[in-house]
Amino acid sequence: MSKSILIRGGRVIDPSREIDEKMDVLIVGDKIAGLGREAAGSADEVIDADGLLVTPGLIDMHVHLREPGHEDKETIETGTAAAVAGGFTAVACMPNTDPPLHSDAEVEYVLRQAELVAHTRVYPIGALTKNRAGRELAEIGLMVKAGAVAFSDDGDGIADTAVCMRAMEYVSQFDRLFIQHCEDTSLTRGGCMNAGLTATRLGLPAIPAVAEVIMAQRDITLARQAGVRYHVAHVSAAGTVDLVRRARQEGQAVTAEVCPHHLLLTEEMCARYDPNLKMNPPLRSQADLQACLEGVRDGTIGCLVTDHAPHVNSEKELGFQDAPFGIIGLETALPLFIRALIDSEVLDWPQLIAAMSTRPAQLLGVSGGTLKVDRVADVTLIDPEIEWKIDAEKMRSKSRNTPFDGWPVRGRAVLTMVGGEVRYRAEQE
Ligand code: DOR
Repeated sequence: MSKSILIRGGRVIDPSREIDEKMDVLIVGDKIAGLGREAAGSADEVIDADGLLVTPGLIDMHVHLREPGHEDKETIETGTAAAVAGGFTAVACMPNTDPPLHSDAEVEYVLRQAELVAHTRVYPIGALTKNRAGRELAEIGLMVKAGAVAFSDDGDGIADTAVCMRAMEYVSQFDRLFIQHCEDTSLTRGGCMNAGLTATRLGLPAIPAVAEVIMAQRDITLARQAGVRYHVAHVSAAGTVDLVRRARQEGQAVTAEVCPHHLLLTEEMCARYDPNLKMNPPLRSQADLQACLEGVRDGTIGCLVTDHAPHVNSEKELGFQDAPFGIIGLETALPLFIRALIDSEVLDWPQLIAAMSTRPAQLLGVSGGTLKVDRVADVTLIDPEIEWKIDAEKMRSKSRNTPFDGWPVRGRAVLTMVGGEVRYRAEQE
């Protein structure tokens, strides 16, 4: 007999069915077996969810797990341990590994390794071009067969318009999501922070917002022609938000995501020369931040992601100009999005869960994102009120590169269940 678990008395939020009410959830084996009154009765285990939110498991569609090749920064095991502690039941991992995920062999490797060691579901994102070099198409068809859920050269955008067009046409044939890291590197080469007054004052080489906007603009035109579902990774600039909004208003299949740091931090902070404030795209102006918030509020930006980008201390201890781009995010995303979006009433809870679970599941075409009966029991229990302090030293990620260390925050995942198995409980801390 399969094990049954009753999650009792929580505020159940399921954006896939517009449910937001206090009820019970029954899980039998690896599936959701009933909600509300359907769930009444006994179970092998009862979890008291009084005062907690019960939501479909969170899904982060933009994570760097670093395996294969950079296991000093993170592994599939440590990255997904961090994920599950942050309330995520699934992550989609970017292909800028070494070797890159650019053929079926690497995609299969990640899936096999995940099978052995992962704490969450792991969905590989295949590279669009060989070696992510932007010149020759990668083996997209074989990677689809092997299990790649989407395609991107993330870390880089595809500069060559003809290659980009062909990649879009190819990806559209398989109805996979085309995710672009929008950056025209002819405008950004050597830059380490946003182009603006602060960069000028600090004398640092800069990355203008228009470098993001111009690639998004080209791509939206190309994607319309290619008929591909097009997704802008880590939006940071007001101009990009405007473009995505307009394309969506015209009915084009364009979507976008944003990270917590682009909703909470601005370029002025780089005056501290703290390499944990260095990421790509960089922290932008207050006006860009406001535009991103507005984009989230009106649904232009429908997905909330981390861009979890671990780097070892020795790299992040370099000077601001020399340190690599990127910060970790899996264990801090939920409270930071609460602060940026719930506390400021940009989103309500069902909208936040839709952007952190239901929508990513739909875009990637993967399980989860719902509490429908008979679907996989990927469930996150959230204490929305608990107050705590972010402590980089306590993190499960192998890396410590966060600018949020020491921040007082509110809200966190207290239990994460993948396929009916409890994979994380906060009491374990
Ligand atoms: O900050 C970033 N770090 N941006 C990227 O696009 C890549 C990522 C990484 O892999 O470190």
